Amino acid sequence: TIEYINGKYLSSGEAAVPLEERGHQFGDGVYEVIRYYNGHGFMLEEHLERLEKSAGEIRIDLDGGIGRIKEIIEEGVEKSGLKDCYVYLQVTRGIAPRNHLFPKETKPSVSMTVKPASALTRDMVENGVAAVTHADERWANCYIKSLNLLPNILAKQTASEKGCYEAILHKDGRVTEASSSNAFIVKDDTIITTPLSREILPGITRAALKDVCDTAGIRFDEQHFTVREMKQADEVFITSTTSEVLPVTTIDGDPVKDGKPGNMTKLVLELFQARTQ
Ligand code: PDD
Repeated sequence: TIEYINGKYLSSGEAAVPLEERGHQFGDGVYEVIRYYNGHGFMLEEHLERLEKSAGEIRIDLDGGIGRIKEIIEEGVEKSGLKDCYVYLQVTRGIAPRNHLFPKETKPSVSMTVKPASALTRDMVENGVAAVTHADERWANCYIKSLNLLPNILAKQTASEKGCYEAILHKDGRVTEASSSNAFIVKDDTIITTPLSREILPGITRAALKDVCDTAGIRFDEQHFTVREMKQADEVFITSTTSEVLPVTTIDGDPVKDGKPGNMTKLVLELFQARTQ
């Protein structure tokens, strides 16, 4: 495992961040999670572009731009010696005496961890996971990958305490996304997912999946759907950098169709996996 902050590499667990770091005190920052497969950063450019966009939206000026961030990531991965790993990269507004207003002369902090990728278990991929539905209690700008994840962690904890892997979020019955992934249903061989808007994170895995479908001639519809439609769908799955493409086979304790991963999910999972190699 590699730990990095503002130009320095630390030994694991070493104290490094002052109390008055705005990431700590305000969650005033943005982040990315990037997967390396066999030494290759999967859709690295897309992650960097999203980071640039997130930072810009909260008016953090990336010192040296995403070019510098890319160098930091590549150096960190190289130092780690890991070929299959997760890069967690965070940029905050920096270190300054606590004050809600932006500090004037503070430089953004960049920190990173590089850790071995923990493979999803065979059971999860082959049998699917359980999910609960949960009210989407987040703010209006979920397209920004911000550090503020309190509603997300509370929803996911609730899911876990009910023996489930993920919480699928909805606003008055309309599905947005999940606590740390994007949500999809399959109906009559068409893959349906919530359209991009300020309400959801534009997932990089979602984008990869869309491209997989375009290439394979699979219908991919960006359209709203309800919790009720999801529960009556042929198949349900989620995507994220860490979950890849994961079948959801029960929701709120009830099986989706026969409670087994569906054929379309299995097909797009296979096509997705082929891209990561
Ligand atoms: N989460 N939606 C939310 C709310 C997320 O937090 C994530 C990713 C996604 C999927 O995005 P992507 O395909 O780019 O990973 C969707 C990361 C993995 C995390 O917070 O750990």
